[in-house]
Parts: sequence; structure tokens; C-alpha cells
Amino acid sequence: MSTPIPSIPAPRNVPRHVAVIMDGNGRWANLRAMPRQAGHKAGVKAARQLVEYMAERSIECLTLFAFSSENWARPREEVGALMTLFVEVMKREADNLHKNNVRLRFIGNRDSLGSRLVKRIDEAEQRTRDNTGLQLNVAMAYGGRWDIVEAARAMAEQVRNGVLTPERIDETAFAETLELGGCPDVDLLIRTGGEKRISNFLLWHLAYAELFFSDVLWPEFSSEHAAEAIRFFEARQRRYGRTGDQLEAQPC
Ligand code: IPE
Ligand code: IPE
Ligand code: MG
Repeated sequence: MSTPIPSIPAPRNVPRHVAVIMDGNGRWANLRAMPRQAGHKAGVKAARQLVEYMAERSIECLTLFAFSSENWARPREEVGALMTLFVEVMKREADNLHKNNVRLRFIGNRDSLGSRLVKRIDEAEQRTRDNTGLQLNVAMAYGGRWDIVEAARAMAEQVRNGVLTPERIDETAFAETLELGGCPDVDLLIRTGGEKRISNFLLWHLAYAELFFSDVLWPEFSSEHAAEAIRFFEARQRRYGRTGDQLEAQPC
């Protein structure tokens, strides 16, 4: 059986889906002799600015990595402070996001989060579900491998129940079953804080993403830095396995 050659998404100047690993909060705080939690608080401000910037640029989907499945391994005090911060942020920001027509969605293992936070998440998702502006995905207690395993399990369950046959499992059906089902693949990944790794973020959706690594620590990441990341994206030639000559001969 020959493998079908995937088609190339239409070339676009702006990315449809931007994903961000917001790293460097702890180091930002350390440099100022402040507790790590202060860095996380400062990071919320940078996240708010980025959401506004991406909404203005008419980006369809923005996915922010707020807490990874691996972050549970941090000291209890830091994890507790982060969870409290998430509840506060939800309380404070939900109105504004709704007013700005943002549709909020959370991805990650909700079963591992506290009931107060899950309640806020459910409420915010319900409230903003019909909004038509930026789709803001917040990854919390999220791991790319966990997501893939969950999708595989859900599909196995559907096969067992007779609503799916193994022959109908393809890349499109699989992607639909992942937490971000319905969102296009990531076009641009931004990681701040100087590390050049994926840290178990959106493993499936990053397959052909352009990767922008910045040494800036997350709380310092401004709209100018975001604009630089978009310019970097605009300058890439997305070849999807073809040659540059092929693309120039057939730009669409
Ligand atoms: C990212 O910043 C935020 C979370 C992982 C919650 P860090 O807390 O990882 O900051 P550094 O990498 O220690 O500076
Ligand atoms: C990745 O940052 C997770 C988030 C930004 C939420 P980390 O700082 O936890 O990543 P590693 O463990 O250093 O790769
Ligand atoms: Mg880090």
C-alpha cells in the first residue's frame, strides 16, 4: 500500500495557530531575589499582553503552556501557589476575555486538578463557548504523551463499542480525538527562557511547526518580542518535504 502524499496547507502570512512555552518565571524571580511565585505572578501579566496582541493580529488559535504533567514534581509549596494563582487569574480575567470575544478552552488532565479550579474552568468554557474571536487554549496538567495515550484509549473504546472500525482510524480521525480536536496544527511555537526543547508539549500538533526560541525570560516577553516571532515565521519557507524549487514553481 503506497502512502498518500499529504497536501500542503495554503501558504499564509500570519500563523493560524501559535503555541507558547512560557518559560523562565523562576529565573526572572531569582535574579530579583524574589520567591519563584513572584515570577509566576509576573508571568500572568505577560500572558495577558500576548493574548491581546494575538487577538489584534487575528490569530485563530493561541495555546499557552501553563502547567505540565511533569510540573507536579515541583516542591509542594510552588505547586500549591501555582494552583491558587490559576484560580485567582480565572476569577479576575474571565470577564475581560469574554468581553473581548475570546473562546476559552482548557486542555489537560482535569482529574488531577482541584475541584475549585475545575469549577472555574468549566464555568469559563461554558460562558465563552459561543464567542467567535481568538480561541485561547490553556494547557494545564497537560502532557503531549498523555494526550496521545488518552486519544488511543478513547478510540479503542469506540472500536469495542462498535462505533468505529480500525480501518477508519487515520490521521484526521486521530487528531480530532486529541484534546485540541478542531484546532489546526501549530504553525509557530515560541519558547522563552533560553531552553531549546519541547518538554512534552503538543507532540502531535508540532509535527511541522516553525520553532522560535528566545532567551527572554517569560515575564519580560513583550508585544515587540511577539512581533519578532511573527516576522521570523513570515520569513520561513514551509516546504513540507518538497524542494524550494517545487514551491517556487507552484507557489500555491
Ligand atoms: C515556567 O517558568 C512556568 C511553569 C513551568 C509553571 P519556570 O517556573 O519553569 O521558570 P524557570 O525555568 O525555573 O526559570
Ligand atoms: C515547561 O517548562 C512547562 C511550562 C512552561 C508550563 P518547564 O520549565 O517545566 O520545562 P523543563 O522541565 O525545564 O523542560
Ligand atoms: Mg522552566
